[in-house]
Amino acid sequence: MSIPEQVIRKIASAKTSLRQQLGVAIHSLATQIEKPAVRPPSTAMAKVETATPSAQEVARQIGDDWKVAAYYELAEAAMEPAWHELLFPLLKDCDFSAVLDLAAGHGRNSEYLRKYAQKIYIADINIENIEFCRRRFADDPRFEFVLCDGLTLPSIADASLTLLYCFDSMVHFDSDTVRAYLREFRRILRPGGRGLCHHSNYTAKPTGSLHDNPHWRNFMSQELFTHYCHKEGLRVIRSQLLDWGGSRFSNWGNDPLVVQNLDCVTVFERPE
Ligand SMILES: C[S@@+](CC[C@H](N)C(=O)[O-])C[C@H]1O[C@@H](n2cnc3c(N)ncnc32)[C@H](O)[C@@H]1O
Repeated sequence: MSIPEQVIRKIASAKTSLRQQLGVAIHSLATQIEKPAVRPPSTAMAKVETATPSAQEVARQIGDDWKVAAYYELAEAAMEPAWHELLFPLLKDCDFSAVLDLAAGHGRNSEYLRKYAQKIYIADINIENIEFCRRRFADDPRFEFVLCDGLTLPSIADASLTLLYCFDSMVHFDSDTVRAYLREFRRILRPGGRGLCHHSNYTAKPTGSLHDNPHWRNFMSQELFTHYCHKEGLRVIRSQLLDWGGSRFSNWGNDPLVVQNLDCVTVFERPE
């Protein structure tokens, strides 16, 4: 039995129509996937985005804690035990030809560093501290003073330093600040040059203000610091945890709190 011509035409027409409808539907779907609807951010979203400060603003805010502080006079007296009991044993094999005291404050560390150094850079985010150190070391031509932006040290030449040093400052720095300085350290250290950083080992509160943390420690750990060193091309030579508040060099001031393993001192090297 043969199918009538009229029926064959109807089936063919229905097939064409179905193909067209399917095609339109698929094209429409594909367009939506490729070009998602652009919606203006809600007011709440926009607020969150603009409220996030830049790395430089974060560094500046933390720097502002240390423009003028009773700390400087109190800490001065704790320097002698800090140098002899903690720092010099870690530094005694280092080359002191060209040294940077980063975040130097009123220069109590530089007073000891200059016993060995041929050239010393003092860097700090606060002009008040740079001016204080300028006056303190006015009679010593080995000093150069650098007012920094809180993250970088552009006025210090590549591969020009043999020793980097940062005591009792980086413990307060944001982790982005620490990472930025490690990148700079890799640049300004000579191959074989070393660095000593006293940094935080406090990870109990990943959010919130450092002012709520013991001794104003910022979020950082021994492991994260080592990880950042590695990523920035620096090799960790030794790293030791440090209690804060219970030693002759850390139990001064008004805060009697003793915290075990709150801090860490890491010595690293720029590989040859
Ligand atoms: C607690 S004081 C320690 C000063 C000095 N290292 C000492 O042991 O006496 C912290 C210092 O870090 C400086 N500082 C804070 N943030 C900084 C940053 N991002 N870059 C450079 N200096 C910074 C402050 O101006 C201040 O001098």
